[in-house]
Amino acid sequence: MLNISEWKHRLIPLLSGRSILITGGTGSFGRKFAATLLENFGDVRRVIIYSRDELKQFEMAQAFPRDKFPQLRYFIGDVRDKERLYRAMEDVDVVVHAAALKQVPAAEYNPFEAIKTNIIGAQNVIETAIDRGVQRVVALSTDKAAAPINLYGATKLCSDKFFVSANHFRGKHDILFSVVRYGNVMGSRGSVVPFFLDKRREGILPITDARMTRFNITLQEGIELVMYALANMWGGEIFVPRIPSYRIMDMAEAIAPECEKKIIGIRPGEKLHEEMITATDALHTLEFAKYFVILPTMPLWNVNDYAAEFDGRPCPEGYHYASDTNSRWLSVPDIRELIRRHIDPALEWKSPPAANTGGSKITLIRGTEDAAEPVPAWLSEGDRWARRQQTAAPLTESTPTLTGVK
Ligand SMILES: NC(=O)c1ccc[n+]([C@@H]2O[C@H](COP(=O)([O-])OP(=O)(O)OC[C@H]3O[C@@H](n4cnc5c(N)ncnc54)[C@H](OP(=O)(O)O)[C@@H]3O)[C@@H](O)[C@H]2O)c1
Repeated sequence: MLNISEWKHRLIPLLSGRSILITGGTGSFGRKFAATLLENFGDVRRVIIYSRDELKQFEMAQAFPRDKFPQLRYFIGDVRDKERLYRAMEDVDVVVHAAALKQVPAAEYNPFEAIKTNIIGAQNVIETAIDRGVQRVVALSTDKAAAPINLYGATKLCSDKFFVSANHFRGKHDILFSVVRYGNVMGSRGSVVPFFLDKRREGILPITDARMTRFNITLQEGIELVMYALANMWGGEIFVPRIPSYRIMDMAEAIAPECEKKIIGIRPGEKLHEEMITATDALHTLEFAKYFVILPTMPLWNVNDYAAEFDGRPCPEGYHYASDTNSRWLSVPDIRELIRRHIDPALEWKSPPAANTGGSKITLIRGTEDAAEPVPAWLSEGDRWARRQQTAAPLTESTPTLTGVK
């Protein structure tokens, strides 16, 4: 885990008294990122939440009451709409680009919609940020962008390339662009943990392929890496965290050992194992103690200086970073501990057959707090409200696949 206190001093000039815009600010990442900003940088001038759906913004405004968070602003807007972005980015210093269409099956069925949001939207964010005098932009990416086999991953790869190359076409503007790429966020909407917790009630867990492995990151770790990137970016990096993997059968065992495991076959657009750094990427990747940096292929700065500054070194010949060849693995007890800490404190597994228990209470982490961290009273109160809303809502937005959604 990166320790924010070690480099917080570098963020202060960037964030204190400044305006930050988060595209997709009502999503899992955006809410938690906004909460972290407000908690750590109380003197931030404005935190602008930019997204389309008024209900999600209304819910967020309830969880973050205006009297306690006067810095929060809500802009209804679409990243496809450059005019609206231009209005929203007035006097903005930092942009975190989290808005995306991210359901693999939805992108397969609606390819042009995914392209409009994830690719054209990325271009709009970049061009508007340059025109509006923004200083730092960090865009979120996914392991599915490495050697993509589905449209979602392909759109995110295009987006990554846009953000890296934006450092070349920014001209004389004082702005830097970087990317943070990570794997499955534990407990995010549509992901495997809430899906298994839900299916447990029925006594059968559908599993696409017993050999499957995935990377695992907590939302808190994702936020910290974005903060770290903001503080330390030189422009053009793709930051990739060192995170553990899990085996899908261990996840099933951790959540519902009592359930039958039903193998249903791998789905279109799914990989058996995810990759974050391909062997080709690794040729121009530096490794550091807690993360990797895929370097821009067209040089932007001196790589030796960069490696020396952050104590990095080139990846070994033939290296690739994939969920099945990872050196760090989550065991069944590790997974249970993480679920209890981040998703469902009441997780029980030595219970009578699931059909009789009604299953455990599911909590989706849309902007919820990391139980490992001290939780400020206001945040836990807001989260309780948000959790009630989320648990009340049906999980219809989650496609019932094992890993086809992010
Ligand atoms: N969750 C994961 O496991 C995971 C893993 C790796 C990377 N990522 C990446 O992390 C980022 C954030 O993911 P998340 O989990 O926070 O997603 P999320 O919970 O689904 O949130 C997505 C956000 O984007 C907004 N949005 C969607 N389309 C938009 C558009 N056209 N214009 C403006 N806003 C739009 C949504 O609000 P509205 O619908 O109201 O517009 C929502 O606020 C994404 O870029 C994703 O690719 C996620």
